[in-house]
Amino acid sequence: MIQFTLNGKRVRLDVPADMPLLWAIRDHANLTGTKFGCGIGQCGACTVHLDGAPVRSCQLPVSAVAGKAITTIEGVSAPSSALPTKDRRARAAKAVQSAWTRLDVVQCGYCQSGQIMSAVALLADNPSPSDADIDTAMAGNVCRCATYHRIRAAIHEAAR
Ligand code: FES
Repeated sequence: MIQFTLNGKRVRLDVPADMPLLWAIRDHANLTGTKFGCGIGQCGACTVHLDGAPVRSCQLPVSAVAGKAITTIEGVSAPSSALPTKDRRARAAKAVQSAWTRLDVVQCGYCQSGQIMSAVALLADNPSPSDADIDTAMAGNVCRCATYHRIRAAIHEAAR
């Protein structure tokens, strides 16, 4: 039995300790916003926050998050955001969500929950990132539709 906080709520999952966190979240906590892409830590589709920092959930055994706080795309999405208002990610998440919509960032959408989780973590740490900061922070998030230019523009817009 592994216990951790998932989007602000305590959960206890009866899963093998070495199960990747991604599958614990999707198949046992029934939160399917976090996506499987490559399964080898290379694409970023499975990005979630571990104690506020972006991590690849396909590469993290669920036992590694015992007692810790995991936030998924469901936890940062308005109007049901699980982030406390004092959490720096709350403001970043709101700004990212509205910039993503205004600039029509999404094409097929498959990678976007991972992109958004990385963007929210970046803006929570660095409210005014340069192009280079954005490129560094987002380098591990691959988009097959090549929406990179819109992602970069939306991060700048969310920073305003
Ligand atoms: Fe985890 Fe690609 S599915 S990085």
